[in-house]
Amino acid sequence: MPSNREIAKNIGVFDSGIGGLTVVKELAKLLPKETIIYFGDTARVPYGNKSAATVTKYSFQNTRFLVEKDIKLMVVACNTATALSLGLLQESFPDLPIIGVIEPGVKAALKSSKNAKIGVIGTAATISSQAYNRALRQSERGVEVSVQACPLFVPLVEEGWVNKKVTKLIAEEYLAGMKRIGIDSLILGCTHYPLLKKIIGQVMGKKVKLIDSAQTVAQAVKNLLQEEKLAKTTGKGECIFFVSDVPEKFISVGQQLLGEKIQQATQIDIEKF
Ligand code: DGL
Repeated sequence: MPSNREIAKNIGVFDSGIGGLTVVKELAKLLPKETIIYFGDTARVPYGNKSAATVTKYSFQNTRFLVEKDIKLMVVACNTATALSLGLLQESFPDLPIIGVIEPGVKAALKSSKNAKIGVIGTAATISSQAYNRALRQSERGVEVSVQACPLFVPLVEEGWVNKKVTKLIAEEYLAGMKRIGIDSLILGCTHYPLLKKIIGQVMGKKVKLIDSAQTVAQAVKNLLQEEKLAKTTGKGECIFFVSDVPEKFISVGQQLLGEKIQQATQIDIEKF
């Protein structure tokens, strides 16, 4: 008899807002036959300045919502939720494979760095959880890790201000210390940040490799689906969007980001889950 996971059809993805769409974009490229159910918690964004207990409560509600959507695998496309609640989610939903965004980014950074000086930027909650420091220091190779919280980046991205002068000024302020230290790889430890890649790249200069974990996460999802024989081999994939606040802004900023039209995003009451 097939297991529930074999019958389940979809890939669930959640983030606090539009940041997780950076992961969706890569998933859709790599797994074009899969149906992705995306939940953006737009009523409660940002997560990055909230306590671990609150972010964990939100993560469980988001997961319970996605579980009702017939999912065979879930991606926590949010570094803050990964840092604060991935382990608890995995323990509480043992039958559902759950992939976070920190480990793939760490692997990519360790591979990229030549001088073993790695920078990490993220939300205040991700940085103070020290999840990246721990993961990077587990490597046998001694690495020097520099971290910086950039709390203003998420609201700037949610506002769609990814090419504004003010955003560059803020990036210069946040990244000045990292520049002095001479890191050669910088982990964009928040799924919103790849949208600021151009500005962050200009500030850090060409010698610093920006590590965007979206691609490595998508590859990890593909590998897991193939290993477990859960990958779809026929049909045309799609992405179905849900949000917790009115959808207009999510649709307009989200489609700029995805580079394609979002026909619809359905508003749900996440507090019911
Ligand atoms: N995009 C999320 C992250 O990767 C959350 C940002 C936020 O809501 O503060 O951390």
